[in-house]
Amino acid sequence: MTETVVAVDGPAGSGKSSVSKAAAKRLGFDYLDTGAAYRALSWYVLDGNIDSTDAAAVVASLPGFRYTIGTDPFGYHVRVGETDVTDSIREPRVTAVVSNIARVPEVRSHVTGIFRDIIRDSVAPGIVVEGRDITTVVAPDATARILLTASEEARMSRRSAELASESASEVASALQKRDRADSRVVDFMTAAAGVTTVDSTTLNFDETVDAVLDVIRTSQKT
Ligand code: DC
Repeated sequence: MTETVVAVDGPAGSGKSSVSKAAAKRLGFDYLDTGAAYRALSWYVLDGNIDSTDAAAVVASLPGFRYTIGTDPFGYHVRVGETDVTDSIREPRVTAVVSNIARVPEVRSHVTGIFRDIIRDSVAPGIVVEGRDITTVVAPDATARILLTASEEARMSRRSAELASESASEVASALQKRDRADSRVVDFMTAAAGVTTVDSTTLNFDETVDAVLDVIRTSQKT
């Protein structure tokens, strides 16, 4: 098992993925995007014409679900079987069903097992693992545990900048819908005991990465 495990949770639009990846690059650590696993399973379910709201059918599909997720922050990729799904798991049709998949307890325990294997097998000096339940369920004993938040307004304006083709109101309603659906699955808005909150509302990207690196360095000393 790698020496330093950094757990980062947070809502959509908090900058969690890009900040975690940048922190991993700066430290020479591995990087694990757990949301990508839920997205990859959603892609697989859609590809197999399985009804994502049929929990029994989703659970029955798990044994055939083979996915690879790269942990090199410089060469990030996700594959289902032999198919590269790195880009297609970000499509709106996947985002639309992923909460249905993520709320199934058997799915959560299945992928959590895979995440723990990946953490255990990492040979880098550390690994940054980001998602919604990393500080609480996947790696509650992590060296550093961080909740990355930002006001709803800040999260919306970042998303709007990313998705230039969509109107501000489309972005706002999509984000609010996702927050509602995701928070029915896990509480990722409040920091559990021992978790450090980094609020990026008034920070730019580099300042947020620096704030996260500070928490990691402080945790490594204690
Ligand atoms: O972070 P993201 O948008 O790629 O996450 C995709 C979905 O997976 C989202 O609905 C929340 C869910 N998720 C989860 O339930 N637990 C995690 N550890 C990571 C993601």
